[in-house]
Amino acid sequence: MNRRQFLYGTTAVAIPVLAGCDKDDEPIISIDESYPVGTFGATSTAEEVTLGLDLTGKTAIVTGCNSGLGLETMRVLAMRGAHVIGTGRNIEKARKACSSVPGKTTPVALELSNLDSIVECADTITKMDYPIDILVCNAGINTFGELDLVNGIERIFAVNHIGHFVLVNRLMPLLKKAKESRIVHVSSKSAYVQAPSVGIDFDNLRGEGEFDYWTAYGRSKLANALFSLELASRLEGSNITSNALHPGLVQTNIARNAPMMLRKAFDWFGNLIAKTPEQGAATQVYVSTNPSLKGVSGAFFEDCNAVIVSGNHFLFDKPMAERLWSTSEEMAQGYLIDWE
Ligand SMILES: NC(=O)c1ccc[n+]([C@@H]2O[C@H](COP(=O)([O-])OP(=O)(O)OC[C@H]3O[C@@H](n4cnc5c(N)ncnc54)[C@H](OP(=O)(O)O)[C@@H]3O)[C@@H](O)[C@H]2O)c1
Repeated sequence: MNRRQFLYGTTAVAIPVLAGCDKDDEPIISIDESYPVGTFGATSTAEEVTLGLDLTGKTAIVTGCNSGLGLETMRVLAMRGAHVIGTGRNIEKARKACSSVPGKTTPVALELSNLDSIVECADTITKMDYPIDILVCNAGINTFGELDLVNGIERIFAVNHIGHFVLVNRLMPLLKKAKESRIVHVSSKSAYVQAPSVGIDFDNLRGEGEFDYWTAYGRSKLANALFSLELASRLEGSNITSNALHPGLVQTNIARNAPMMLRKAFDWFGNLIAKTPEQGAATQVYVSTNPSLKGVSGAFFEDCNAVIVSGNHFLFDKPMAERLWSTSEEMAQGYLIDWE
């Protein structure tokens, strides 16, 4: 095998792993026509889906604003006139990212593995006293490593789900203040292709059982979708909507901790099948801003449309979403406010 054949072979294995898909068991995704159907698709960019929109006067929060999808989301929202509060794991990262894009942006520190940092972030934003029109829960990790616990909770679940659970909870008074507010959860197709076979394995969130980074990431992304679903139900009849989405396979830094060969393959050949960050950010920016989606809540989007996913999965499992909510409340005890 020559070097070229080796690299292509590695890519063939690497890309499905990073994409969260197993070609033999690929679910069928179809547009859910019970929701407004738009004209945008997989190759649309965040700029294209917001062409002609004026977001002046709106305030948006984007978590993980210094990299990949978060950076592009912040750039385009600010470009369309929104004031974007961008969060980074420390204030320097957030500042650097905010100053790299034109428009009105405000940097805030947010380390999602640290509940005190989340409270501090929410308090800082609360002091600014802007009604929040858009909250994009975008930040996330995929560790590709061994079991690691933070505050006794498996790290990927803690960062990707519990962190945003607390942040959304504490920002609820500001979200309620806006005339119309949208909470957008950046989940993944991993939520339905690589979550544990039982969905959320509630007896394994603290590392009690076997750990596998593949299913751990899927579980955390399923948690994003179920959190969105339960939030939508609890917010029914209010001014706030909640939707989740899969951005597509996108060439960002999400695989930074992957084994080197996997990372290299993604860097070198990912562009053959992956979206660019400009395309990858389109769905979350579309769901955050498109006027046709006013009032739409509890849906799961891909390629800029709400979708139906075939096969066995737990994306819309209401009892599981309710149980996740109460489990998350227990895990975040002492860090939540009463907004209901
Ligand atoms: N790229 C894809 O193919 C793909 C596919 C499906 C879903 N997603 C989802 O898309 C979202 C954005 O990821 P991306 O692809 O843009 O990856 P990325 O380039 O790695 O960006 C991830 C962002 O999350 C931040 N972050 C990581 N850990 C954090 C923590 N503990 N506290 C606060 N912020 C933290 C990162 O900050 P640092 O840079 O400082 O670490 C970075 O700003 C994630 O939720 C990911 O799961 C991505």
